[in-house]
Amino acid sequence: MCGIVGFTGVIPAAPVLLEGLARLEYRGYDSAGIAVFQNHKILIKKACGRLKTLCDLISNGINYDSPTGIGHTRWATHGKPSDDNAHPHRSQDGSFAIVHNGIIENYAMLKRQLQEKGYQFSSETDTEVVAHLLQDNYNGDLFDTIVRTLQMLEGSYALGILNVDHPDELYAVRKSSPLIVGTSNQGNMIASDIPAILPLTRKVYYLNDNEIVRLTKNSVEIFDLQHHLLDRAVTTIDWDVSAAEKGGYEHFMIKEIMEQPKALRDTITPRIKNGQIHLDGIEIDQALLQNIQRINIIACGSAYHVGVVAKYVIEELCRIPVFAEIASEFRYSNPIVDENSLVIIISQSGETADTLAALREAKARGATILSIVNVVGSSIANESKNVLYTWAGPEISVATTKAYSTQLALMYLIALYIAQRLGRVDDTQTSNLLAQIAALPDKVEQILKLAPKIETLAQRYAYLEHAYFIGRNLDYAVALEASLKLKEISYIHSEAYAAGELKHGTISLIEDGTFVAGLACVKRLVAKTMSNIKEVKARGAEVLLLTCEDYDIHSDEVDHILTIPSTHELLMPSLEVVPLQLLGYYVAKARNCDIDKPRNLAKSVTVE
Ligand code: G6P
Repeated sequence: MCGIVGFTGVIPAAPVLLEGLARLEYRGYDSAGIAVFQNHKILIKKACGRLKTLCDLISNGINYDSPTGIGHTRWATHGKPSDDNAHPHRSQDGSFAIVHNGIIENYAMLKRQLQEKGYQFSSETDTEVVAHLLQDNYNGDLFDTIVRTLQMLEGSYALGILNVDHPDELYAVRKSSPLIVGTSNQGNMIASDIPAILPLTRKVYYLNDNEIVRLTKNSVEIFDLQHHLLDRAVTTIDWDVSAAEKGGYEHFMIKEIMEQPKALRDTITPRIKNGQIHLDGIEIDQALLQNIQRINIIACGSAYHVGVVAKYVIEELCRIPVFAEIASEFRYSNPIVDENSLVIIISQSGETADTLAALREAKARGATILSIVNVVGSSIANESKNVLYTWAGPEISVATTKAYSTQLALMYLIALYIAQRLGRVDDTQTSNLLAQIAALPDKVEQILKLAPKIETLAQRYAYLEHAYFIGRNLDYAVALEASLKLKEISYIHSEAYAAGELKHGTISLIEDGTFVAGLACVKRLVAKTMSNIKEVKARGAEVLLLTCEDYDIHSDEVDHILTIPSTHELLMPSLEVVPLQLLGYYVAKARNCDIDKPRNLAKSVTVE
């Protein structure tokens, strides 16, 4: 949530900051602002609304020549979106300006104390206390001032800090919120995520918690809180700028849907060599696997839905009980996890606050952790002994597609890897499954050709108020994701239901014209699901059926039918999710929704 940037260099900062913010807008987009130096003062410009409002207000920053500045794009936590609540925030005397991503948990107490000292607040944010505290603690030594201020804060923060006495310097610090440093011969930059720095450089330093970085136009110094200079290697990002651009597509979401064959190939191919699974040298103790009592899969949102698919797959292949859990529930549940547990964490961003907290909880209880992450160097990756990266490339659209698909592909490989190590699958089963996993990218490519047909179909559903996605077993797991996709970007109320459970209550909502998407891709359950579909049809539902092209289903049993190629039954979710992503996208498009930035949402959820 919230994106921060900062720059100091040999070129004007404002355009660099605005370009960086544009690439971080997925993190929050209710207001934006920048601060730069002007006439020995700090000038702050901010505006409620999308970044474009700010860019129009300040003519894209072309009139500011300051080579140093900070910027912010906000997802409101404390106080509604407004000009006043937008960042940067200034100290009372204007000597400091800061941008913040995270939450200062003890801000109310600090605010009271500052008010008693006479400080006046101009926003409802938690962040403003930090600006006033910096002023209050300032003793001429900026580093010392920052450290003493940090010592008073509880919560999470990535902060960018400007001070009038140091116009050629930019300070930044992180604790439990993401922050990276990009370095180039035009200057140095801080940002919440990689896409923001790509127009400037692909060379980055990753920061750890409780590190303070001091940037000048030609230096990057990283310190611990005791002011020891730390040695940090530069990493080169192999994404290019275009990876984080729309490349001719109308929305990032459709670009990312279409990128799935490549993302799947990049994720799968290096892990299958000579008919064997190679999992990047992860270490899962054989004794642990032999004694394992349970596997917990913990994640949020769509990543959790991957966990639900994986539960069916791992239980089928490995015969180990699997619990797929929502991170925000797991972390406060006094979980039954110990040294005999394998905990699989799934996260695209690697920064989701609840998922990170769940990881720490499981680690503290002695579990072996295996994380599936897309963003290299993210907090979850850093804190996990075993990390498998999805090679999906940057995902910008708030609604995930290619990250979901690549997470799923990795889960198949993990399930098979464990089953193999436990001797629960033989060589023939293994090579059959591996061949089918390797064939998934081509099949997804074939399914994407359904896009025009689905776009036409979507026109019919543009005026829906409610939608239901039903299926059994793996089809139910995919229904969860399909329903979320439609709901989050089109604002149509949607529910996913286990088809057999419908008659225990929800069927009472079905009436003439109610939209039901029936998922019938698990071959052995097709007849059962079709019975449930007939039940809703009998009550007037308009049914769209998704099934495999080689199953024997009469199209007159439903209103519309989409068919896809088949694969091994356990792998069907990888294929069936694709037309459902397209359905969500095209319905939202037909409704003229802001697809890449749905209201109230953000992509990287760094608050709990
Ligand atoms: C947000 C995103 C979802 C994502 C979830 C978990 O809600 O919009 O697409 O699935 O966070 O994010 P993570 O980065 O941990 O996968």
